[in-house]
Formats: sequence, C-alpha cells, structure tokens
Amino acid sequence: MSSSVLFTRRGLLRLGGAAFAAATMPMPGTSQPASEPLRLRAALSRVHLAGVPENSSAVWAYNGGVPGPEIRVRQGEPIRVRAENGLAEETTVHWHGIRTPNAMDGVPHLTQAPIPAGGEFLYEFDAVDAGTFWYHPHQRSSEQVGRGLYGPLIIEEHDPIRVDRDLIWMLDDWRMTDAGEISDDFGNRHDAAHNGRVGNTVTINGTSPEPVAVRRGERVRLRLINAANARIFALDFGDLDPVIVALDGQPVTPHAPAEGIVVIGPAMRIDLVLDMAGHPGSRTTVRDVAYQGLEYDLVEVRYDEAPLRKTVPDWSLDLPANPLREPDIAAATRHKVVFNGGMMGQMMMGDDAASMMQQMRDGAMWFINGQAADGHVMDPLVSMALGTSHVFAMDNRTTWHHPIHLHGHSFRVIARNGEPTRYREWQDTVLVAPEETVEIAFVADNPGDWMFHCHILEHQAAGMMAVVRVG
Ligand code: C2O
Ligand code: CU
Repeated sequence: MSSSVLFTRRGLLRLGGAAFAAATMPMPGTSQPASEPLRLRAALSRVHLAGVPENSSAVWAYNGGVPGPEIRVRQGEPIRVRAENGLAEETTVHWHGIRTPNAMDGVPHLTQAPIPAGGEFLYEFDAVDAGTFWYHPHQRSSEQVGRGLYGPLIIEEHDPIRVDRDLIWMLDDWRMTDAGEISDDFGNRHDAAHNGRVGNTVTINGTSPEPVAVRRGERVRLRLINAANARIFALDFGDLDPVIVALDGQPVTPHAPAEGIVVIGPAMRIDLVLDMAGHPGSRTTVRDVAYQGLEYDLVEVRYDEAPLRKTVPDWSLDLPANPLREPDIAAATRHKVVFNGGMMGQMMMGDDAASMMQQMRDGAMWFINGQAADGHVMDPLVSMALGTSHVFAMDNRTTWHHPIHLHGHSFRVIARNGEPTRYREWQDTVLVAPEETVEIAFVADNPGDWMFHCHILEHQAAGMMAVVRVG
C-alpha cells in the first residue's frame, strides 16, 4: 500500500504509513486546519509495477502511487476529498459501492460536470455503510482505471470482528509491452467484443506479489478488491480454509466459498478471514485458477515466524449489519433485464433484433434490453418511485461473464437460474455467468439518476450501460 489516511471524528488526518506521513508532514510553524479535505490528485507518475527498482512504468495515478492513498474512516463519519485533475483530459471520482447522495456519485454528465484538466471538485458525503469499498474515475474508465487510477476506501465498523491483522489485497492486471510499459491499445474492438482487456501481468497493491509471512495461530482479515478492467480471479487458498465474512462491503453469513475457490469479478470485494493453522517452516501457495490452462501461483504464504498461539482463535466472525432496507419481494415490481451482444453469442431474436443489428453496424457491441448506451444522455431503463421495492430479473444471453453494478444502492441477490440463493447476499456488483439468470432485489431509496452497467470496462464503453431513475 502506498500510503494510508485515517480520518478522525473531527476530520483531522491521522497518518498511517511512513511514506505518506513523510510526504505530508506539516512544515514547521504550520498546522493542518481541522476542516482540510484529503487532496486526491490524478496525474502522470511512474511506479514499480514489477517490483524491480530499476524498472518503472508510466502510469496515471492518485497522489503519485498505485493504488492511490487508502482512505479509512469510521462508519458514520464524513468523507471529504478534494479531487484535483492533473491529467490532460477530463475526469471524475466515483466511490464504488458507497451509498452517496446522487450529486457525489462522480458520473460525468449524469451527476456532475466532468472535472476539466487543471480543475478540481470537492466530494463530501457520510460513510453510511461499514465495509470494503474503492474509488476510481468514471470518465473513459477503461483507460483511466486501466492506467492505474484507483484506490481502497475502508469504512471501519464501530464494533469490528477481532483479528490480529487487517490486510488489503487490491488485485489488478496490466497489459504490458516487452519494454515494461502499459500497452496503448485501449478501446480496441477485439477486447470490447470478447472478455475485455485482460492483461499479462498481475499485481497486488500495485506491485508484483511477494511472499507473505504469517504466524501459526494468527487470524487475518483479508480484504480483496478486484480493480482489474476485466480479469476475473478465482483464488484457491490451498489449506488456508478461507471464510467469507463480507461481499461488496456488506456482511454475509460466514461461510466457506463454494468448492473452496474464492471467485471475484471486476469491481467486487470479498472480505475473508484466514486462520493460520500451519506449523513454523511450512508453506502454502495461493493460486489463481480462473482461466483454464492459465492457472498460476499468485502468492506464497510462509510460516516464517514464531507461532502467535498454539491453536487458531474461536472469536466471532459475525460483522454488524449495515442500515440497509429489506426489499418487500412479494410487493416488488419485477423488471426483465436482458443482456445481448458480444462475439460468439446467440442469434439475436425478437422485436429488438433488427435494431440491435443496426446499432452494431454503428459500432455498439453490447445491449441492455435491446439498447446500447451511446453518448451521455440516456432515457431511464426503469423509473422507480422513492421507497418502493424492485426485482431485476437479469438474463444473460451472451457467452461471456458480466459483473453487473448498480450505483447508489446495494441489492440482495435472491436467485440464480431460478434457485434461491443460500445467503441472500447483499452486493453492489454481481457476476452473471454466460447464459445465467440472476434476480436481484432492493428498495429504491436513494433519489436520483443512477448508472447500471457492466464493470468489464470495455463492455461498458461498448454500450453495456443504462440509467435507472429513483424518485
Ligand atoms: Cu465502479 Cu459505475 O463503477
Ligand atoms: Cu460485460
């Protein structure tokens, strides 16, 4: 992690992370005003993605680092960030998964004017939900996020679960050239039509993964954040027996992942608890098995140090619930949401087929209910009265996975392929498999126009995006 910022109740910065502390140490004779917002400057930088000191790569970064500064506040506290645009193009900051007022959501032309080059924008909102979130631009996201603009945003519970260590792994992958620079081929048609911009170099917290030293008996909370444009990770933790305690920031009944594999699509977060039960000297390898034939070792976990305890702790794994309103499924309005498009898909059929063919000739690639988003002004896909319950019955008629994200709300995932889900998990981004149907339910309780889109950023750019209206 490049640096860490902790807001206290009075809005003063508490500094964690020596690098950040050194960089922001007030000059003698000055002091940090109490109301000073965190400054978040997007600009060109160079970082060591490969972890080799002599090889740096050009990136676009917040405050010079990838990831950007860790923003950490306690639940209920205000977040105040002054975003400065040091790029040569417009940008915004979106607070992914945070239920902000609409005007703070960071969507250009929908919730705010884009921040011009050289301009700035003050984001201010309260941290209503505790959990693991992240921030990134919402302007030309494929390239801006793909070049390194993102950072973690952690809202601490008032009554957190007890752990020995709280770790963040912000996962990303990059398409690097042989010269060690980010490949310039953003926005190409092939990525847009297939599984997006999957890279060739995986990083954790902006650098090539290094072995992690652990101690027998230690309990670790591991916050996974997938910041990749398109890569899905499927992590096999070997004998570490991960327990999932939160999804997209929201607590879930603690449970082992299906078949022991932790699957995390772009933009999703998963909080794991890992109890280190190995003996000193032993090793475990965390492998990514997402893409068949391309499995690889991600991280080695080493029991290098003296045991912390003889056995693993049995402290509670239950996180306190966030203040989310329970949807009334019986009274909910149902909306059918069909995804079409991409290569190797089904024949497009029905009333929309001719229109979709025409939109494809005009450059679109993906459709939500027959419509590819293009340009900024969009008619709402659905309009919902404030406070009413809704079910989106999503039908993926493509041969690709899509992590579908709704802004301004968290939703319950209530069914997959017609089967009720086991944990009725709250999410803000749900990975929908090829040919799968997924039903989500929520109360439309946050007024405004909100984005609803695929978080494979190349799919979003090629039309897989809509607006839903609340109130
Ligand atoms: Cu993470 Cu619409 O975004
Ligand atoms: Cu998609």
